[in-house]
Amino acid sequence: MVEETVHDWERVDRLRALADGIGRCRRCPLSRHRTRAVAGEGPPDARMVLVGEAPGAREDRTGRPFVGPAGRFLDRLLAEQGFRRSDIFLTSCVKCRPPGNRTPRRQELTTCTSTWLLPQLRLIAPAVTVLCGRTAVAALVGGPFRLADHHGTFRRQGDMTYFITYHPAAAMRFAETATAMRADLALLAARMGR
Ligand code: URA
Repeated sequence: MVEETVHDWERVDRLRALADGIGRCRRCPLSRHRTRAVAGEGPPDARMVLVGEAPGAREDRTGRPFVGPAGRFLDRLLAEQGFRRSDIFLTSCVKCRPPGNRTPRRQELTTCTSTWLLPQLRLIAPAVTVLCGRTAVAALVGGPFRLADHHGTFRRQGDMTYFITYHPAAAMRFAETATAMRADLALLAARMGR
């Protein structure tokens, strides 16, 4: 087997090219409604990538991932388990905000995931990709299955290792979900040697 080695400079260049492409993308109807596409941010060689569903209002305005209320809640949950946001590459399944924050449609998810998210993941090649919420799990692992039955578990798929948990927006609203997400992240932290 020929193993592809992506050198650091090459990885940075290719990730930047993907981010430029995301900024110009018109492949699905979501692009018509966006203010700014949100490619994601974090170290190009992050050991951990965290994938949400879609940018919200504040992300759409700023072009940065997880900077709204759910993002602030996520920052807290991560910090509690000794994770530093700056060590993690944060992104979403779709890079443009759906109108009224509706759930992205299947075609939008398929297009954005195959064109942008999977190439990002292949370049970063993290030790683990954390899937936050039902949409991220459906987009990358498939399904259908109930988050309640599978959160806190790892899935190996091809070269990728996924970890399934809740979306911080749900954890922010429901105390039980927050408790479960805290436990998931504690487990993840222990596995990652934090
Ligand atoms: N929810 C997401 O899934 N991603 C963001 O960037 C913000 C909220």
